[in-house]
This record gives sequence, structure tokens and C-alpha cells, in this order.
Amino acid sequence: MSLEGPDGAGKSRAAGRLAEHLRARGVAVTLTREPGGTRLGEQIRALLLDRDAAERVPEADALLFSAARSQLVQEVIRPALDRGDVVVCDRFAASTLAYQGYGAGVDLESLRLMESLAVDGTRPDLVLLLDTPVEIGLGRRGIGDPAELTRFEDASRHDLAFHERVRRGYLALAEADPERWRVVDGDREPARVDAELFRLVDEFLASDELSGALARMHQ
Ligand code: TYD
Repeated sequence: MSLEGPDGAGKSRAAGRLAEHLRARGVAVTLTREPGGTRLGEQIRALLLDRDAAERVPEADALLFSAARSQLVQEVIRPALDRGDVVVCDRFAASTLAYQGYGAGVDLESLRLMESLAVDGTRPDLVLLLDTPVEIGLGRRGIGDPAELTRFEDASRHDLAFHERVRRGYLALAEADPERWRVVDGDREPARVDAELFRLVDEFLASDELSGALARMHQ
């Protein structure tokens, strides 16, 4: 499963809490974050998020994010799934569609082709979108040290309209695939957001176990 959302929606905090919740239920969990999660991924992350790095066209960004993802899938995610772990991804392929596609205008069909090469069939069966109004998300990020802001949050490169397109893009992706996506209102107290995430995930895992048991009965 993956957690997605605009900057400052509280994904990383929620992903950590979700992993704790599952572990407390006795579920083996592998938690990943993007970009990063492998040695190559961390190197690409440093390059991608560095505000002083060379200028890049959004297509180059998309290729770099996808390169990191491809390494993460083969090195970490597939082995974890093979062991039977539940994998919780703090961002995954949908981030590239939302940011580089809807946000920066890269052709969505080309991005989907690139995604199919990078993930090679390994896609989350549950995508949790933490939806938060753009001003609130960026406001939360702004509270911290401005030097910590990533290249994607830097207002001189990406204005409010960019982040608004990212948010709308996420909502469009969720609407187009309601089987896999769930939208969670991230503009609430963290405890309430967590409670809803836990409920959705518990529900999903219960139905997954049930369909697994039914499939075995029919074998
Ligand atoms: P990060 O510090 O991990 O932010 P967050 O905590 O919000 O996830 O920075 C990731 C940044 O990279 C974030 O601004 C979103 C952007 N991004 C893309 O533009 N495309 C992608 O495919 C991914 C994975 C992230």
C-alpha cells in the first residue's frame, strides 16, 4: 500500500504511525520512502531535492524519480513482498503522475509507460491519499527551517498554482480508480486522521484475507 498527497499533508508521520499500528497487530511491515530507500535512491534523492542542483526539465525529473523507484522495487519491495511483508510506501508512482504530470505538464501517457518499466507490475493494491488544501500544507512546511524546504516546495520554482494542479491531479487519479484509492481528509487533528487510516487499512486487510481464504477454498 502507498500513502500519497501534496507537500505538508502529513504523509510521512502517518506512514510511520500506520506501520506501528500494523506491527502492533502482529503484521510484518516494510516501510519505504520515496525518493530514497536504497543507496542509489538516497543519492538520487540528494540530487533531486537539492535547491542548488542544476536546472532540469520536468521530463528529467520524472526519469530520475523513476530510476530511484526501479531500484527500490527490485532491491527492497519485491523481496519484502516475497517474504510476506505488508509494504507501506511513503510516496510511490502516483507522485510522478501528480507532480511531473499534472503539476509540471509532462505527458501522462508517457509517464505511465515509464512507470510500467520502473515498477514492472509491482503496484500498491491500496493507495491512501491524504488530501489537504494547498495553503495549509505549504503553511505547515513553512513553519520549519526554510533551508529544509525541498526544490519542489521552493516558491520561486513552483508557485501555488503548481501545487494546486498537483492536488487536483491526485483527486483525479483517485476518482478514476476508486477500487484502489481512498481519499482521507488530512486537514484534521493527526489522531483523527490516523484513526481513519487505521480503519481503512484494517478493512482492506480483512477483505484481502477473506478473498485469499475463499480462493483457497475453491482450489
Ligand atoms: P520529501 O522531503 O520526501 O517530501 P514529503 O515529505 O512531502 O514526501 O520530498 C519529496 C518531494 O519530491 C516532494 O515535494 C514531492 C516530490 N516528488 C515528485 O515531484 N515526484 C515524485 O515522483 C516523487 C516520489 C516525489
